[in-house]
Amino acid sequence: MPPQVAAQLEHRREPLVAEAQQQVTGRQVGQPDAERVAQPGGQRARLDRVRGRADAADVVHRKAPLLAWPDDTTAAAAEPRRRVQLRLGVDQRAGHGRPGDAGVHEIPAVQTGCRLVGAVGAGLAGLGRLGEVVQRHDVHGSVEGERYQLQPAPLRLEPPGERERVGAVDLRVGDDEPVAVHVGAVHHAGRPARRGAVGRGHHRRLHRRGDDRAGPPVGQLHDVAVAVPAPEVGRAGDPDPVVVQPWRRRGHGPPPVRRSSVRRRRTLTWNSVPRLVSGVTDSTAIRHLPDHDAFLLTGSGFSYAFAVGADGSLRHLHWGGPLGASDVAALLGDDARDFGSNTWSHPRAHTEELVQHGGRRLDETALKVEFADGVRALDLAYAGHRIAGDELAVTLTDRHYPFDAVLSYRVRPDEGVLERRCELVNRGEHPVVVDRAASASWPLPWRPRWEATWLAGMYAAETQVTRRALGPGRLVLESRRGIPGHAAQPWLALDAGAGDTTGEVWSVALAWSGSWRLVGELAFDGRLHVTAGVNDYDLRLPLAPGTSWTTPVVAGVYTAAGHDDLTDRWHRYERRHVAPRPDTIRPVLYNSWEATFFDVRPESQVELARRAAGLGAELFVVDDGWFAGRDDESAGIGDWTPDARRFPDGLAPLAEEVHRLGMRFGVWVEPESVSPDSELFRAHPDWIFQWPTRPRTLARQTHLLALSRPEVRDHLVTALDGLLSSAPIDALKWDLNRPLTEASDGVDASSPWIAQVEGLYEVIDRVRALHPGVWIESCASGGGRADLGIMSRTEWTWPSDNTDALERLAIQHGYLRAHSPHTMMAWVTDSPTYLTKREIPLRFRFHSAMCGLLGIGGNLATWSTDELAGAAEHVTRYKHIRTTVQFGTVRRLDADAPDDVTALSYQAPDGGQLAVFAFAPSVRHLRRTVLLRLRDLDPAAVYVDADTGARHSGALLMHHGLRVPLVGDYASALVVLDRAP
Ligand code: DGJ
Repeated sequence: MPPQVAAQLEHRREPLVAEAQQQVTGRQVGQPDAERVAQPGGQRARLDRVRGRADAADVVHRKAPLLAWPDDTTAAAAEPRRRVQLRLGVDQRAGHGRPGDAGVHEIPAVQTGCRLVGAVGAGLAGLGRLGEVVQRHDVHGSVEGERYQLQPAPLRLEPPGERERVGAVDLRVGDDEPVAVHVGAVHHAGRPARRGAVGRGHHRRLHRRGDDRAGPPVGQLHDVAVAVPAPEVGRAGDPDPVVVQPWRRRGHGPPPVRRSSVRRRRTLTWNSVPRLVSGVTDSTAIRHLPDHDAFLLTGSGFSYAFAVGADGSLRHLHWGGPLGASDVAALLGDDARDFGSNTWSHPRAHTEELVQHGGRRLDETALKVEFADGVRALDLAYAGHRIAGDELAVTLTDRHYPFDAVLSYRVRPDEGVLERRCELVNRGEHPVVVDRAASASWPLPWRPRWEATWLAGMYAAETQVTRRALGPGRLVLESRRGIPGHAAQPWLALDAGAGDTTGEVWSVALAWSGSWRLVGELAFDGRLHVTAGVNDYDLRLPLAPGTSWTTPVVAGVYTAAGHDDLTDRWHRYERRHVAPRPDTIRPVLYNSWEATFFDVRPESQVELARRAAGLGAELFVVDDGWFAGRDDESAGIGDWTPDARRFPDGLAPLAEEVHRLGMRFGVWVEPESVSPDSELFRAHPDWIFQWPTRPRTLARQTHLLALSRPEVRDHLVTALDGLLSSAPIDALKWDLNRPLTEASDGVDASSPWIAQVEGLYEVIDRVRALHPGVWIESCASGGGRADLGIMSRTEWTWPSDNTDALERLAIQHGYLRAHSPHTMMAWVTDSPTYLTKREIPLRFRFHSAMCGLLGIGGNLATWSTDELAGAAEHVTRYKHIRTTVQFGTVRRLDADAPDDVTALSYQAPDGGQLAVFAFAPSVRHLRRTVLLRLRDLDPAAVYVDADTGARHSGALLMHHGLRVPLVGDYASALVVLDRAP
């Protein structure tokens, strides 16, 4: 048992706020562990700090795309090669460029003995702004006369404050002498005529220093540079030769520490754009292999590799079992693009790190934008990378437009999880509209067949495990509702024939609480790639000049040990890197929704609270119906003040009574909605999503507040702060019962699909920062919002409104595939239950709910004395096993059991306790027991049945099985085994 958990168990009754203050709150997916603090705009600020750290350690890692002209490849391979880095400085003091500036550049090379093999062009193209070499010259023996002509992309010179720009070239060196390369000063040289398709605007010439030409300077590329002789490049398979070179330009100090560019719509300066070439690594998880221009990312049981291709594109190499650096060279030679057909997409999607819209790419793409001149094709090329700890950022720059896509990778080594996201940066002076922006493309290796597993469903039947063989074509899982929705979870697993304990499985999950899309595209030849991100349905995201937007994180997991191990990895990941208060025992909950529905009165709530406390509940939540005007669905949402008729003195007396009974107190809210019949709507009818000329769509008799508008967010923070300050409230159940429709907030033309979710995150973060002791449950008409994004901000979720204990088993079965049990609330309600009318005995209902976070949601006022006594026993028993259930390792045991039996086991983190559950709706064929083989025990250990005292060896439990009695209808069993000391 983790020490924190043990401590929580012992001191469970300590003051709530004190406990909360010890916890770390507001954790974000993808956020560094040390920086999980709740604060406004927390994710952005945190990332700023991450980048700031990297910047502070600003060193230059010689980074040169391994680029060669195709006809040089053989010769290049035969000759010794050295790398030097060529830096091109831009002295903006001489003037300012404009987007669209372009021209023919000539770079004089003055180093005898160097032969440029073509990398200048690509290297400079990597700069994204200078262009491509159109003519190659060798410079053997020539000092003065050689020039490299560049066919430029638009040249944008830096805004004030920026002094340098870094480029990289590969030079082949004929001898072992250190190489020194100077590139002369660059001065404006007039404004030749427009160059049609290639150049628009001005032409420039690059000359040696001092060779100033006539004409007003528009920009000045000047003294550039220092060539950096490199040590020998390491052999493939050697540890990554980390070659760092302090960045110095003659006459200038170290570069300024840059701040992040990730803040959405924040004005960027050049200093905020990731350094094109940099990197310092203290990571064993991320290795840059300069010999191959490749990156090898490794965590527990997996490797992920990609390289910079000859054309500057990022070429995907591997996602699967662990590889060594020496394997990467072989992967480079294994080029699936060697041959092709003109009928195919080119490049094939499964060979690309990020599939962009442009060229002959006809497969599912991840990124599509529209530039101000109407061009809707991208042409991104590698421009540099940065490694900081376990994070890698690779900058792709458009060859023509001042637009970057920064691909970020973060390895969670212990869980074998790779987090990815993409930052889109508009460095230009014209807006860019993003039409599609997935977080990542995930190429999978070739396998002869593919099976997909996902969590499909609908209202009251969420997270049903769905498994199908993939055929050629696209599997599209998505939500267009502005919330993750009930139809599917943003989670997908793909395998080539894996079982629970064997076989390879690849899985991705998106941390986004809005509309999302996962596409698995399988070509006829078995090539598969997955695209994951925000949905492009109705998406139109303008990026103003000098701003950026970062996609949500998509996490990917690979395992070679089957679906059980996949589940373990996702659970560990959620506990260690996603959930707030990851090691804190979740309380036994009582929720009054099904007991009283909208008829919330203090007397009946106190009566319920008394009975709930008597059963051992620790948190009492008053659901919908406590606030002003809320007699039914038709009114009140938006006015988060207690109904004065029923609570004349506010909620404080009820909350205090609940505290006196020894429980925490919580209330239900639906902050994003507003009833037309509410004070809020009457005061601000313009605060909702609506089109001026179209009817407003009501859903559950509410509109959706536009959290894209700052004044709406401020209002909600103030309202919730007021509520939480008005009474000792310890918890919120945060619900949303409608989709996003009429996607216009009337003010901001940017996409509400994105802004609404970011606005929600901001409001939650601000509320949590103001009230760090408050716990939050996520709910959206049951399980409509249970993604990694919301889970990073809430303690648990409500997986479904369906509290039928039998149907709940299937919902929980699917939920646990993707999510840890410590996030899975489950109530014991009345029999028959109100949605399905099924009658189920108390024992079965409790056992079913004890598989997650135990809650009670029945009308306790109607429960008999026997039922209350039985319930109290179950609660006591649950508290005995809840550390194991909430934080343990889950195993599905169904494979051993007959079809109508559901069985699962939980093993405590320290292996000291096992809880084994078995359920059968109806036991037939004279069967009175099931024999369940347990998994992953210590074969030499002895496990003692806590009820009977029977002793079993681990070997027997694993290889023969545990005999569990199941008799009659709605039969259920809970066997608790303690490991003998
Ligand atoms: C939907 C939730 O799923 C229910 O649990 C309940 O809170 C209702 N909303 C209240 O309106």
